[in-house]
Amino acid sequence: MFKRLPGDEARNLVSTTPDTAVVFRPAVVSTPAILTIVLLVFRMLAGLVRTIWRHPIACAIPVALGAAWCVYGWPASASLLGTVVLLLISWAFLDRPSFSRLVGYRLLAWWRFVWVYRRHWQPVMTVSGLGRHIRGRDYLPVLGKVTCTSWADQVTVRMLKGQAVKDWTDRLDHLAQGFGATSCRVSLVKAGQLMLTFPRNDPLSQPLPALPVHEEPTVGPVEIGKREDGQPWRLKVHGTHVLVAGATGAGKGSIIWSVIRSLLPAAQAGLVELWAVDPKLMELSYGRDLFGSRYAATPEECVDLLDEAVCVMQKRAARFAGLQRSHTPTIEDPFVLVVVDEVAFLTAYQSDRQLRQRISSALATLTTQGRAVGVGVLAALQDPRKEVMNIRNLFPDKIALRLDESEQVDMVLGDGARDRGALADHISPVPELGAGVGYVRLEASPEPVRVRAAYVTDADIHAMVDAYGPYGQAA
Ligand SMILES: Nc1ncnc2c1ncn2[C@@H]1O[C@H](COP(=O)(O)OP(=O)(O)O)[C@@H](O)[C@H]1O
Ligand SMILES: [Mg+2]
Repeated sequence: MFKRLPGDEARNLVSTTPDTAVVFRPAVVSTPAILTIVLLVFRMLAGLVRTIWRHPIACAIPVALGAAWCVYGWPASASLLGTVVLLLISWAFLDRPSFSRLVGYRLLAWWRFVWVYRRHWQPVMTVSGLGRHIRGRDYLPVLGKVTCTSWADQVTVRMLKGQAVKDWTDRLDHLAQGFGATSCRVSLVKAGQLMLTFPRNDPLSQPLPALPVHEEPTVGPVEIGKREDGQPWRLKVHGTHVLVAGATGAGKGSIIWSVIRSLLPAAQAGLVELWAVDPKLMELSYGRDLFGSRYAATPEECVDLLDEAVCVMQKRAARFAGLQRSHTPTIEDPFVLVVVDEVAFLTAYQSDRQLRQRISSALATLTTQGRAVGVGVLAALQDPRKEVMNIRNLFPDKIALRLDESEQVDMVLGDGARDRGALADHISPVPELGAGVGYVRLEASPEPVRVRAAYVTDADIHAMVDAYGPYGQAA
């Protein structure tokens, strides 16, 4: 209970070896017991006041029960307790969301704080090397508040003075294993304070069926799946370019088709044109009627289609020059989305050097100048290395699905993404568990967010062609 003070270390300084030259014994002043007791009582009182201040309701309940016992006897107290429990249970049955928000998750957070985080804090910090043992004293990062959401525990931590965020991001696995979670994410709240996120369950473990098509035409951020926190995942496609990187079978097709699906009403209204470049002849050919004449498969056709897109873009740029700086989709000037599957087939694995150069320069022109005039590129790629795709940085938004190597994660999402928890190389290769799962960086936040795209089946694509095919052709 009493802390070991530095003075107690004196015995370690005194050497009994005969040939030691200097024997040093510092003066040890022993504190009178009364002072220690006063200090401990004061600390206890301060702790009590702090607890009452922070958790007034949780403190009031036992006090009220105790008071009822004293004044009216135990049966009154027991029936009061029974009534409270009954009320809470009926609340939980009647309105689960509000009960969870106001009571359930708070109780769970308290329990997780006491049973998981505070209990294991000292050993996990010491063993993982985040705490320090200096001159007989333990210095540990301070465990702050625990908050529970529907899918994760969020734990705030005050770092030790002199620690860096990197010290923590290097030990994600220690933290996850130490507190019994499958993974851990670290984010900076403010200087010196971190938030650790430990998922309790995975809302993305089941494949998501294709989302219903909203009848209202929109090019705004389109809903294509679910985020780890249960919110819809909306992807911006107009006014940006998106690169999807993922190994074979990672589910790149589900992102492409979910985007196409959600843009169909706008395509029907004439506000969007979908152009498809499908060098592998696998993915987009399935719904080629949606693209009409804007579908290319052989390298020659692909380069012609990309050149045509560049042409549309340049004509628009000439018309818009000096008049408008951003694009609003209209029937005269629709948003053109060029979807390119397996872009490396055109840029890296293409044997004809001239074709390869034409394709690379068309893609580079589109991605550097297309944004403001309403021409966007959505490209899918297996291998994000620079040799394969030297213009990957021209895509402002990138999505990392399952990748083969850990170094590839930062190539896609930018430096430090994997350290911050984007473990795209750990996504399961089993399609039911991991296909369509990936990490994105949302605007205005460096933290990667785990997402899963909805799976558009072949039957869904057939239904889309039946419902929207003619309009795709007209576009
Ligand atoms: N979002 C998803 N959810 C569940 N399963 C998926 C999803 N996307 C793809 N799959 C499964 O994974 C397989 C491979 O997907 P595909 O899109 O062809 O991969 P890629 O184009 O990345 O090689 C599909 O046949 C399908 O069974
Ligand atoms: Mg594919």
